[in-house]
Amino acid sequence: MAEELRIAEGGKEKRYDLLYRQAKEVTTSEEDTIANMANLAAMIHQTFGFWWTGFYRVVGEELILGPFQGPMACTRIAYGRGVCGTAWQRGETIIVPDVEQFPGHIACSSLSRSEIVVPIYRGDEIVAVLDIDSEHLATFDDTDCHWLERIVTLL
Ligand code: SME
Repeated sequence: MAEELRIAEGGKEKRYDLLYRQAKEVTTSEEDTIANMANLAAMIHQTFGFWWTGFYRVVGEELILGPFQGPMACTRIAYGRGVCGTAWQRGETIIVPDVEQFPGHIACSSLSRSEIVVPIYRGDEIVAVLDIDSEHLATFDDTDCHWLERIVTLL
């Protein structure tokens, strides 16, 4: 079991490493943030087969839906609401192993079981969040957190 876990983790690290290098290439040749968000959402989504992968942009006092892959989603989230609004408020990545246990979780899709939300900074200011949903419980861990935080610095 431990061996299986180690191999699975190694697989994830390797996939993130390759993904990061590809993402760097794609984003350095394009300066438009929305275009880069669109490609990053597609690349992350395709690499891991998540249920939903996308961005919400900070616009005034709320988050507004940006480029994404997966089923349609809610378009606006207030500051401090849901996992996305809470990650924005706290200014840090939130990993939710079971969305039913997160008070105030916003269920855009009833099939989503676990989630990670990563804030995106421009200097000291949060300008967007990356939100990823999985159909499985406890999909995200410190490895996802580490690499996704690195990937969003490319924007
Ligand atoms: N679950 C999120 C809402 C966005 S969807 O998952 C795409 C939240 O609680 O903020």
